[in-house]
Amino acid sequence: MTITEITAAELDPQQFIAEQVKEIADTVGDGLAINALSGGVDSSAVTMLGHKALGDRLKTYFIDNGIMRKGEPQKVVDLFAGLGVRVELVDAQDEFFAALAGVTDPEEKREAITQTFYRHVFGRLVREGGAKHLLQGTILTDVDETAAGIKRQHNVFEQIGIDPQEAFGYRIIEPLIQLRKDGVRKVAAALGLPESVYNRMPFPGPALTARVIGEATRERIALVREATAITEAELADTGAFQYMAILHEDRVTGMRDNQRDFGLQIEIRCWESVDARVATPMRLPWEKLERLAGRILDELPGVVSVTYHIAPKPPSTMEVV
Ligand code: XMP
Repeated sequence: MTITEITAAELDPQQFIAEQVKEIADTVGDGLAINALSGGVDSSAVTMLGHKALGDRLKTYFIDNGIMRKGEPQKVVDLFAGLGVRVELVDAQDEFFAALAGVTDPEEKREAITQTFYRHVFGRLVREGGAKHLLQGTILTDVDETAAGIKRQHNVFEQIGIDPQEAFGYRIIEPLIQLRKDGVRKVAAALGLPESVYNRMPFPGPALTARVIGEATRERIALVREATAITEAELADTGAFQYMAILHEDRVTGMRDNQRDFGLQIEIRCWESVDARVATPMRLPWEKLERLAGRILDELPGVVSVTYHIAPKPPSTMEVV
C-alpha cells in the first residue's frame, strides 16, 4: 500500500477535517465505532474527528494500563468532558502488569502491551459494544519507522502484514495516516483542542515501560512515574522537544545516612529535535541539572545516582528501551 503524504505546508486543516469527517461517516455508515484515547495529539485529533463524524456512535475509551504518567487518566477524561466528549475510563492495570511480568526484552515488552491492548482489553470492548470499526491515530512516521525496521510502533498492523479483522475482529480506520506530526498539530488546533494537547510533548505508546530498563513491575513503574513528574516539572521551561527520566536495571553503590546503599540509578534525557528522526541532547544549565538531581535524590529515597545522557541520535535513540 502506498500512502500519499500531505505535508504540513500544503495542508489545509479545515478542508482535511471536512474530508476526513465525511470519509469516517461514509465508512462507518449507521454502525458503531470505537477508539482509544491516550491524550496524545494523534489520538486526541482522531477522537475529535470521530465525534464530529459520528457523535454518540463513537465510543471513546481511555484504557488505564497502569503505565501512564501521574494523574494522566483522569486529566485526559476531564479535558475531553470540557470539550463535550464523553470518555469512559477502563481500569485494565492488572491485565497489563500480568502480561509484563518477567518480560525484560524491549520488543517483547511492546508485544505484551500490543497483545494486551488489542487482543484482550480492546477486543473485549469491541465484542461487547458491537463496534465493527476502530479509529486509530497512526501517522506516516509510524509507518516509515516500522517499515524501516527501526522500532515496531505499537499501532501499525497492516504495514507489518497483520490483518486486524482476522487477528482482532475489527476494521481499522486511520484518518491521520497521510500526515506527520506537524500536520497533525495543525489539524488538532483547527479542531479546537487546547494548546496543551496540540503542542504536547511526544510520549511513546508503550508509555512508562519505555522508560524502565528491565522488568516493568508496578513498583518500578511507580518510581519512574515520580521521577518523570519531577523531571517534567523542572524542565518544562526549556522548550526542548522531549525530556524524560529513565530507571536503570543495574544498581550502584551509594551512601545514605552513613550507610552503604546499593541503590537505584535514574538517567535524565532532554532532546532537541525537529521530527525525532535525529536529535541532540540539550545543553542544560548546570544549576538546572543540579536542582533536578537534588529533587530526585530527596524525593525518591531508593535512588543514589542521577546521570545526564549526552549521546546524540544516531547512534542513540531517544527512548532507552
Ligand atoms: P526513538 O526512541 O525511536 O524515539 O528515537 C523517537 C520518537 O518516537 C517515540 N517512540 C515511540 N512512540 N511507540 C510510540 O508510540 C513506541 O514504541 C515508541 N518508541 C519511541 C519517542 O518517544 C520519540 O518521540
